[in-house]
Order: sequence, then structure tokens, then C-alpha cells
Amino acid sequence: MAEGSKIISPDVQTVTKVTHYSDGLFAFRMTRPQSLRFRSGEFVMIGLPGDNGKPILRAYSIASPSWDEELEFYSIIVPDGPLTSRLQHIKEGDQIILRPKPVGTLVLDALTPAKRVYFFATGTGFAPFASLLRDPETYERFEEVIITHTCREVAELTYGRQLLEDLANDPLIGEFAHQVKYYPTTTREESAKMGRITALIESGQMFTDLGLPPLDPAVDRAMVCGNLAFNLDIKALLEKAGLREGANSDPAEFVIEKAFVD
Ligand code: A2P
Repeated sequence: MAEGSKIISPDVQTVTKVTHYSDGLFAFRMTRPQSLRFRSGEFVMIGLPGDNGKPILRAYSIASPSWDEELEFYSIIVPDGPLTSRLQHIKEGDQIILRPKPVGTLVLDALTPAKRVYFFATGTGFAPFASLLRDPETYERFEEVIITHTCREVAELTYGRQLLEDLANDPLIGEFAHQVKYYPTTTREESAKMGRITALIESGQMFTDLGLPPLDPAVDRAMVCGNLAFNLDIKALLEKAGLREGANSDPAEFVIEKAFVD
């Protein structure tokens, strides 16, 4: 794309805000096409034009809730990543390609009704939960919402921690903030709570810390988003506790999606 030129396509949106966090993590907001309807927790394809003019597109969970008039995304920077090595340089006013066809399994409709929902995230797997945590429907469906976020280092928790802190003052969600329990852990840097969430579940420590009973398919539901190995390990723990995997077409007790990387 020539300097200063604009891409002419109905799929092009404009960046409205970029926030960089440490360790190659950043969030950005962009305009939302009026026609785009999505369910909180879904993902879309976004990208930039490549050198040959062909778009480089990747799946990104929408981190903003469905009622927000803009779209928010949360991304890691992979130094040699075809998209994120470019995306890291975006700034307000820049253009981004958006394919407005939202899909995904991490939607409230894929879970049967229950008292409690656990959101288990690692790294940028927090993104779909950033959407769901800001959606009033989450709190209408579940009395208690537990968000666990495991990262290697403390700085990687910043985006999630700020979002949780802001929740109480959110004009739309503030009244539900007391329903949320936040459980951040780190694995490679000292913090208040250390360890992989899988180990903390297996030892029972997470339940002790949160003052909650062990997982029970009668009252607990779960959504999982992280790297592949993490997803498989959590899935095994959930199934051991008697929870079954659900889908849009066949709601059940938990759903899983891989966190997207470049
Ligand atoms: P660890 O540091 O012990 O590998 P990554 O950046 O590799 O995606 O990992 C993000 C976080 O998820 C890290 O804290 C990492 O812990 C943790 N993690 C990675 N794989 C698993 C797994 N199979 N089960 C539980 N936690 C995991």
C-alpha cells in the first residue's frame, strides 16, 4: 500500500486506540461496522496488506463485549510473525482489514444453565474472556464468575488485571462486579500466587484459595482458552470431574478454544 493511500474495501476499519503493555503485548481498538453482530467470546479474521498486496489475516478473539460500539483486540507480538511483526506498529488512524464473519465456541449459548462459570485462560487466551466479563448476560446467566489467568511473568497479567479493576466502575457492569472472582497466577516470576492452574486445581489449592467446593457438573460450567497443551490438560481435569464438552449446537458443561498466535 502506498504511503498515505487508503485501502478501498468494505472490510476496512480504522484504529482508534493502541495501548502497549510490556513483554510484547498490546491491545488496540478500532471502528466497528454497523452491520457486524457477534456474540461475546467469538473471533473474527483481521489483518494488514502484505508486501504483495495480498492480505495477511489471522483469527483474533474480539476482546470487547457485543454491546460496545468499537471493537477491541489483545495481541502478543511474535518477532518474526508475519502479521504481528507488522501489527505492532499500528497507531491511531491506521487501517485494518476485518472480515466481519464472527465464529467461535466460547459463547454462553454453548453452556447449559448453572450456578457458576469458570473462565480458564493462559497468556492472550484472556481475550475472549475480556469480552464475556464485560457482557451483562454473563452475570444474568451465572451467579458466580471465576476468571483464572496464568502467565509466565507478572507483567503479562497487566491487561487482565486492569480490566478487572475497571469492572467495578463500569456504568453497565459495575453492579455485577461482586459476582466475579479473579485468580491470577504466574509460573516463571515471583508473584502472590504461583503455579500452573492445572496443578492448583489438582492439589485443591485453587478451591481453598477461592473458598469454593471442588468442581461439580451439577453447578459448575467452564470455558477454556490457552495454548494447545494447556487446553488438553484442563479438558482432562474437567472430564475427570464429570463435566462434558459442549458446542453451540449441543450445549453442555464446558467449551474450549485455542488462543490464537501469529
Ligand atoms: P509454564 O511457564 O510452566 O510453561 P505459554 O506462554 O507457553 O503459552 O504459557 C502461558 C502460561 O501457561 C505459562 O504460565 C505456562 O506455564 C502455562 N502453561 C503452558 N502449558 C501449560 C499446560 N499444559 N498446563 C498448564 N499450564 C500451562
